[in-house]
Amino acid sequence: AAVVEHTFRVGNLTVRQLCEERVVVAVNGRLPGPTIQAYEGDTLIVHVLNESPYNLTMHWHGVFQRRSAWADGPAYVTQCPIQPGQSYTYKFDVVGQEGTLWWHAHASWLRATVYGALIVLPRPGSQPYPFPQPYAEVPILLGEWWNADVVAVETTGQVTGGLPNVSDAFMVNGKPGDRYPCSSQDMYTLTVVPGKAFLLRIINAALNNQLFFKIAGHSLTVVAVDANYVNPYRADVVVIASGQTVDALLVADAAPGSYYMAALPYVSTEGVEFDATIATGVVKYESTLPSLKPVMPALPFFNETATAYRFYSSLTGLRRRGSPAVPLTVDEKMFIAFGLGLIQCPDAAPCNGALGERLAGSMNNISFQLPSEMSLLEASYHGVKGVYTPDFPNRPPREFDYANPDFTYDFGLVQTAWGTRVKRVKYNATVEVVLQKTSLLALQSHPIHLHGFDFFVLAQGFGTYNATAAEKKFNLVNPQVRNTISVPTGGWAVIRFVADNPGIWLMHCHLDIHSSWGMAMAFEVEDGPTPSARLHPPPPDLPRC
Ligand code: C2O
Ligand code: CU
Repeated sequence: AAVVEHTFRVGNLTVRQLCEERVVVAVNGRLPGPTIQAYEGDTLIVHVLNESPYNLTMHWHGVFQRRSAWADGPAYVTQCPIQPGQSYTYKFDVVGQEGTLWWHAHASWLRATVYGALIVLPRPGSQPYPFPQPYAEVPILLGEWWNADVVAVETTGQVTGGLPNVSDAFMVNGKPGDRYPCSSQDMYTLTVVPGKAFLLRIINAALNNQLFFKIAGHSLTVVAVDANYVNPYRADVVVIASGQTVDALLVADAAPGSYYMAALPYVSTEGVEFDATIATGVVKYESTLPSLKPVMPALPFFNETATAYRFYSSLTGLRRRGSPAVPLTVDEKMFIAFGLGLIQCPDAAPCNGALGERLAGSMNNISFQLPSEMSLLEASYHGVKGVYTPDFPNRPPREFDYANPDFTYDFGLVQTAWGTRVKRVKYNATVEVVLQKTSLLALQSHPIHLHGFDFFVLAQGFGTYNATAAEKKFNLVNPQVRNTISVPTGGWAVIRFVADNPGIWLMHCHLDIHSSWGMAMAFEVEDGPTPSARLHPPPPDLPRC
């Protein structure tokens, strides 16, 4: 195993986008930021120098961080932010996982422009890909562009609970494409060789949207999601929630020519404001005349939940040598109802809601509040009391017909309260969580991301969870394995994981608008009995609050 070392200088970058010059925060002057590539088993060392005007942390989305929770990165969860002018070195091993992951800022909404691919290749001499070796591998980072300053947008939404501005463009590898003003000259173009297979490593780095991704004239074969192999699944349209990755083979078997690739939002709720525009890129067969107009694919409608559900629920995990089996006994059974509710505004704060209330996200009626004096992980490690309480409830306050969206709802369940409450679990416990979307204020599909672990997706569906019916549907043989699950609109999903990694691990909606409104909670996994089952001590340069 080797050491892969990078330096990330994070600072202001002036870019010309959508006809205007704007200043954004970027890594090493690039948008998207640099691709990190490593082999399974390598050690990564990333020196992050914060030359931006904002507090910053970096997160390695999907990396297990075995015993190295100090490098996970969510601000005030595993570390205090790196203050402007300061630096922090993230050091961790990538062990027991391979595929497409990514990294992004995990403070405020900075990840809008601070993100990049993190690709873990199979260890030399280990099992090769479970599909024919592609001719080339291509990262496709789907992003979301804001003309406004994202930190200001976040702060306003945070204080008022008012809906923030929507974004102004989607992007393929940092470029909006020719459907946007002043963007046609500079469109992402993938040049392909006829007959060859290209492995697209697709990453949804958008702040607040799930996306459809489609290429005209070609279907794609999905071979992995969230750095876990799946049984090959042919799809005309890929659906990818914020936080997720999809590896798909593109075979250049169409008539030589030029074909659009398009990324557009999948929005499960009508009446919600969103950016209805489309990012484009081009797949161009080599030797095609540059003047040839690309072919546009037929695009799904923004609210095609049936298409999204078919894609999300059809994937099954590819079992192979060394794949972990689904644990069949469960130590901790949780039911987490999550959604949007209302919370009392603090007296002095401006507030958009009626009756002194504002919108808030919640899990089991708790709107997650980050500490400010130290991170949860430091408090946990040093046994500091008063920073959080280990009493996150296993169930919501009461049973409810969550799928019944009539507005004679239970008002007591709409009301949430701020809290910094974590769920404490024993080392190696098997945890099962039913994630249930509430329809108290809106039906919507949310991508829920768990830090520190992959989980098995045992079942998913619409409506209110019914254990007897759902358990019959559990896939305990070859479920898909993920780190981010798009819970169906007004529905539920059941996930199961083994808590074999000590630390504090955030679980949150990967739509930043919802996580910053409190749609989050955290697990505190205790140390195990042997020295090799304990969290490492904090690194000496861990930032202070
Ligand atoms: Cu991709 Cu908590 O994040
Ligand atoms: Cu959400």
